[in-house]
Amino acid sequence: MPADLGDGIPGTALWTLWHRALEARRPGGVLDDPRAIELVEAIDYPFAERFGEVGAFGQWQALRVLRFDEEVRRFAAARPGGTVVALGEGLETSFWRVDDGTLRWVGVDVEEMVAARAALLPDEGGVAVGAGAGGVGDARRRRSVAASAFDVDAWAPSVDPSRGVLVTAQGLLMYFSRSEAHGLLGALAARFPGAALVFDVMPAAAVARSGRPSGTGWQPPPWRWGWDAGEERALRALPGIAGLDHLPLRPGRGFFGGLALPLATRVPGLWRGLPAVLRARFV
Ligand SMILES: C[S@@+](CC[C@H](N)C(=O)[O-])C[C@H]1O[C@@H](n2cnc3c(N)ncnc32)[C@H](O)[C@@H]1O
Repeated sequence: MPADLGDGIPGTALWTLWHRALEARRPGGVLDDPRAIELVEAIDYPFAERFGEVGAFGQWQALRVLRFDEEVRRFAAARPGGTVVALGEGLETSFWRVDDGTLRWVGVDVEEMVAARAALLPDEGGVAVGAGAGGVGDARRRRSVAASAFDVDAWAPSVDPSRGVLVTAQGLLMYFSRSEAHGLLGALAARFPGAALVFDVMPAAAVARSGRPSGTGWQPPPWRWGWDAGEERALRALPGIAGLDHLPLRPGRGFFGGLALPLATRVPGLWRGLPAVLRARFV
């Protein structure tokens, strides 16, 4: 079905979905995500041919996802009934992994992605669901909004800030320019004082090499915004930013995911050279 998501940034949501599903269906995998597996089975797309089936990327992707989930669970425990805004939500199924029965959730993505979600995940729009795969969901508490994440005025009216807000942007900001990323942080800080944005960044060296065809011939769109020590200082200095936290990954499996990667994400000299998950806290 979402063949019309194309080869641009929306198409990358198929790439991340595929890697989550690979890890979720692997015996002993670190991610419990039956909905991601179901989605891959429901979508008529040459996932394996296009994205490949081997490599450590699936586990890394899953460990990143688990870190985002951990932050959402922490927020939900602290602010029952609060709202998570998932910018560039793509075909993520985090709502069903983390829902505690009170969370409210607003996904924001481009129109074709919101249409794809509505077709593939019909229980997320209008119809309340009971205990489904991956947890208890309730469509009255979640919705998707077709808007650019960067047009905060377009989607913010769909967000009730009264019980707290946590914004996430997973796999999104690296596809945009530095000024767009900084502009979004400033706009979020102004609109949601006291809230936070959890987002991931790619190291500047990886950004410079991005956009080349993968081993399978798939041509990913290039990343544009990279991260290094100077960029970290610049983010900390943005108006409305109270603090910036680096969120290390939890151990997964094997030497790479169980030891090397989590250890590397705890060593400052190393983690700035790796993909990282960050939390910007707003004044
Ligand atoms: C790499 S995917 C990440 C999807 C999902 N967050 C995940 O981790 O699987 C990038 C997502 O950003 C979305 N996107 C691209 N431009 C956008 C924009 N201007 N505003 C909101 N979302 C956008 C794409 O449609 C796609 O779903």
